[in-house]
Amino acid sequence: MDWFEWHKGYRKSPALKARLSLVRQQISDCLNACPSGKIHVVSLCAGDGRDLLGALMNHPRTGDVNARLVELEGQLVECGRAAAEGAGLADRLEFVEGDATLSSAYEGMVPADLVVGCGVFGHVSASQTVRLIHNLSFLCNSGGFFIWTRRCNDRESNLHTNTIQNLLAESAFEEVCFEVTPEGKFAVSTYRYLGESLPLPNDQHLFDFSEFAGALDW
Ligand SMILES: C[S@@+](CC[C@H](N)C(=O)[O-])C[C@H]1O[C@@H](n2cnc3c(N)ncnc32)[C@H](O)[C@@H]1O
Repeated sequence: MDWFEWHKGYRKSPALKARLSLVRQQISDCLNACPSGKIHVVSLCAGDGRDLLGALMNHPRTGDVNARLVELEGQLVECGRAAAEGAGLADRLEFVEGDATLSSAYEGMVPADLVVGCGVFGHVSASQTVRLIHNLSFLCNSGGFFIWTRRCNDRESNLHTNTIQNLLAESAFEEVCFEVTPEGKFAVSTYRYLGESLPLPNDQHLFDFSEFAGALDW
């Protein structure tokens, strides 16, 4: 999968544009809801970070934010760094070129007040969905937020979306917001973690990311 090419879809696809707009709005709402003081954010499989970057432009809490964006594809990391630099936000956004499935990627930044996992669940199998949601207790602060997306325009993806919602509810997350893009393609949702955050384990694999969504078992 060429993820650099995939990002060009943001220019062409109305559905992806609509998804981005909802994600930015939900990030902005979470920042508004965070208590005063520092706000730690981590983004898993962050791409070029345009969701977070867009939300931080002109947001009143931007000066409180320290974010780490973990992305494997070097070209996207370069683009993200350049965009952050251009927006004067390089000191707020730390792009890490690395593997977001490993606990070590989040050392020193978790538990975070906001965990962003957009464009992730579509590449995570049923068993790995359980694993990822279970492991969010290492990443998310008690009272913190988790934003996620999932395509939801056919039977399988709808089923998976419902499974994600049920698993989050079973793992002490409560739904804050659930929206679907106007043409019905993507769900964008915010949950709040009401459980205890657990100490981050060393060198733990938190989930598997599959490049080939078509081969998944949901
Ligand atoms: C569907 S895109 C989503 C990108 C971004 N979050 C967004 O919503 O625009 C998935 C991203 O995951 C990245 N990725 C895949 N495996 C990864 C891994 N193990 N660690 C970090 N990033 C990964 C890809 O390079 C790609 O940028």
